[in-house]
Amino acid sequence: MSYELITIRTEADKVGIVTLNRPKQLYALNDALMDELGQALKAFDADPAIGCMVITGSEKAFAAGADIGAMAGYSFAEVYRGDYITRNWEQIRSIRKPVIAAVSGFALGGGCELAMMCDFIIAADNARFGQPEIKLGIIPGAGGTQRLPRAVGKAKAMDMALTGRMMDATEAERAGLVSRVVALDKLMDEALGAAIQICDYSQLATMAAKESVNRAFEGSLSDGVMFERRLFHALFATADQKEGMDAFVAKRKANFKHA
Ligand code: HXC
Repeated sequence: MSYELITIRTEADKVGIVTLNRPKQLYALNDALMDELGQALKAFDADPAIGCMVITGSEKAFAAGADIGAMAGYSFAEVYRGDYITRNWEQIRSIRKPVIAAVSGFALGGGCELAMMCDFIIAADNARFGQPEIKLGIIPGAGGTQRLPRAVGKAKAMDMALTGRMMDATEAERAGLVSRVVALDKLMDEALGAAIQICDYSQLATMAAKESVNRAFEGSLSDGVMFERRLFHALFATADQKEGMDAFVAKRKANFKHA
């Protein structure tokens, strides 16, 4: 499969890396790019050798939002009938292996929403997050009004959505939007290190952990805890659980077979 608006590569034979590739438009996310991103992630997700994915942009921008030029001419009938956003952006939600966003520079509008669709965000110290849609006469449309308050609380999410101001990396880490902030030149090393660490665990366990943490956002505490308990119980049926615990007891490194 060849791509025009993204590039893909594999690191350490187990991490799938997707780099957004529309530099002239600051990685503005158009339909074609989101189609390619969905296809690439699905292909990595289906590849048994791949245990984790990383999405990244460039130093200047992760993505400066949905493509405003493309959206400018859209009508209600077109976006509603054509299921704009849902038809391709939502594919990211169906990816079952962990996906890390490695963000440097601007992550604005749909760019911030794309980062938040990933499982966690590692930011460079020059990262800037924002939901500036209000300046264009619209609101966030790829989950920003839902995921941002869950990440940073209502006060900051309202501030961001209503004023359109940006948050720098320090504020984003303090508020809980990103899990780590590192120097710009260390961003990919840090993201790759985390991804390799994830790949070396049992895929069954990392997929279950992802699925279970995601439950925390979508249901009640009691349903979430029950979901977690059942997955936790189910992992005792895997060879990887035996291997992980036997290795600990024998004081050796576990060698997971993802089975
Ligand atoms: C289309 C974009 C773009 C975007 C930047 N460009 N952002 N094109 N859609 N979202 C283009 C510019 O038009 C310009 O093209 C080139 O990229 C470089 O951008 P500059 O503005 O010259 O760069 P700079 O001065 O450094 O400013 C960077 C910036 C600014 C602060 C990020 O570009 C900006 O404010 N961009 C828009 C951010 C935004 O509003 N995002 C939300 C979009 S709405 P030319 O041809 O002039 O060189 C959205 C809706 C989400 O995301 C809902 C569903 C997903």
